[in-house]
Amino acid sequence: MVGHIPRQFIDELMRKTSIVDVIDSMVPLQKKGREYMACCPFHDEKTPSFSVSPQKQFFYCFGCGESGSVIDFLMKYQNLDFVEAIEDLANRAGIEIPRSNANGKFGASRNQADHLLEMVNLANLWFQEQLKSNPDRKTATGYLQSRGLNAKMISEFRIGYAPDSWNGLSSELGKTPSNLKLLVDAGLISHKQDAQGRDRYYDRFRGRIMFPIEDSRGRIVGFGGRNLTEKGPKYLNSPETALFHKSRELYGMHRARRAIGKQNRSIVVEGYMDVVSLVQFGVENVVAALGTATTPDHVQCLFRLAPEVVFCFDGDQAGRNAAWKALITTLPELKDGRQASFLFLDEGEDPDTTVRTVGTDGFLKKVGSALPITNFLFEKLVEEIDLERIDGRAKLASLAKPLLMNIPGFALRSMMFDHLSTLCGIMIEPDESNQSLRSQNTATGSRRHHDRNLHGRLPLVAQAINLLLQHPYLARKSPNFSALDELNMDGLDVLTDMLNTCCKDPNITVARLLERFRHAPYHSYLEYLALRDHHVQDDVLVEHFGEIIRKLLARLRKQHHDELIAKSRQRPLEQHEKEELLSLQQERIHQSAQSEE
Ligand code: UTP
Ligand code: MN
Repeated sequence: MVGHIPRQFIDELMRKTSIVDVIDSMVPLQKKGREYMACCPFHDEKTPSFSVSPQKQFFYCFGCGESGSVIDFLMKYQNLDFVEAIEDLANRAGIEIPRSNANGKFGASRNQADHLLEMVNLANLWFQEQLKSNPDRKTATGYLQSRGLNAKMISEFRIGYAPDSWNGLSSELGKTPSNLKLLVDAGLISHKQDAQGRDRYYDRFRGRIMFPIEDSRGRIVGFGGRNLTEKGPKYLNSPETALFHKSRELYGMHRARRAIGKQNRSIVVEGYMDVVSLVQFGVENVVAALGTATTPDHVQCLFRLAPEVVFCFDGDQAGRNAAWKALITTLPELKDGRQASFLFLDEGEDPDTTVRTVGTDGFLKKVGSALPITNFLFEKLVEEIDLERIDGRAKLASLAKPLLMNIPGFALRSMMFDHLSTLCGIMIEPDESNQSLRSQNTATGSRRHHDRNLHGRLPLVAQAINLLLQHPYLARKSPNFSALDELNMDGLDVLTDMLNTCCKDPNITVARLLERFRHAPYHSYLEYLALRDHHVQDDVLVEHFGEIIRKLLARLRKQHHDELIAKSRQRPLEQHEKEELLSLQQERIHQSAQSEE
């Protein structure tokens, strides 16, 4: 990404922005009580279920489950990437975006990134030129012809040729030291010192068809080079550079965007050639991961553009393994309304060869009948399990449950649990289900302590986050939590960060709180917690929240206790350690006596 935008700026920008004004400028809103309503722009409907909360600075659709901050709205509604959404907001607010480089310094890096972009672009023009006029271009043009690529695709994908030479590019573009350095920084030229300590520079890509990789805004940030010789790997990619992050980019994304939005579906294939070939055959909504496994970034980006993703893999074992990894990455992104499927091609085929054999309609038909992620999940799990056996069904339950718990969509998760229950022959329920919470709460009709602990079906940290996201003021009413960051517990760093943020800024909104964690792998889980009904009554919120924090503090004391015991087995404890242990032990005895009363 070019010039990292400082977090404080984003926070400031969100503070100056009214989500109601921004959305209202595109989707007219009507005030209903404390919220604003409209027909949802993300799905077809006749009666409004899309609501915008000025308090929370958050939108939510009761119909399709789409939700988020003003940034999410712009990304989704206008098909923008994150930086573009920030730029749009900054424009609206009439303020300039400061950029920082990786070291957190402002300013300078913007320039540096622009120079790099320019150099990479020049390099690609040179590669394209070589494909047209280099005396040795015949191997390259012949190869492209044999692969059946037409001239239109070659020019649209800006495909080029790196001649089989050690210094073709460097002697053309690296004439000055500063340009040479840019080429090295862009990963196009390798720099080594020889035995005599002299600097040596040589072209990284030699004798290869060059596929430029564009970022989501269409700027070339890296390359994939297809081998024409027998030397080296079949494909060579640019290394990670200031511009190029393999796990973030998807090949073909920039041009596929519109088609994905229009067709409400993206198709993910494995190879560069597959993308170009499918586009040539009129399948435009297609992208490829750059020789890496599917990442959360990829999946999030695809789901922002359309609610359905079809992954296309080889039918062999390697393809199925890669598909399983994609499944694991996709589950946490499955909000209700989203779909993912897997298309397994015949052994030895890839999308390129398939579309050439069965044609566009034949290929789309296969895509349409791809295996839903839910079926794939169960199929794969039961592969090695004997469901006739009781312990087999128990094994299935134990394997499936943690996977299903990752699904944020309530309806989908519930149905998956129903299906699991059918397979196992007994009722298996998620650890927390809104349904059972509600029914149990009203059944007892009581708000006594342990009844409210039904909320406790979420892990403690998640309970705290659940409440805090919806009622940031709780941080200021909380028992002293400053010691908490010593506690080793999943998600605790997120909780303490939120507590501190909320204390510093009493007017913080859920949208701004969530924004701090946009790029975290658990972001969609936080979004889920921000909307999840916690069923704690208003008048006992503070007390309930305090109780959770006190429980966490008790865990911390238990942790200290255990650490001291462990230490005492290694060496004699020092006096102050002994005293601490003694007091922790006394406290434990006191507590267990109390709980027996
Ligand atoms: P494939 O070998 O399936 O690619 O690898 P392909 O596009 O079908 O290749 P050809 O040109 O038709 O024979 C799939 C993807 O894996 C990455 C590339 O991104 C490739 O497009 N890959 C593959 C590498 O990065 N390095 C390699 O050596 C091979
Ligand atoms: Mn291929």
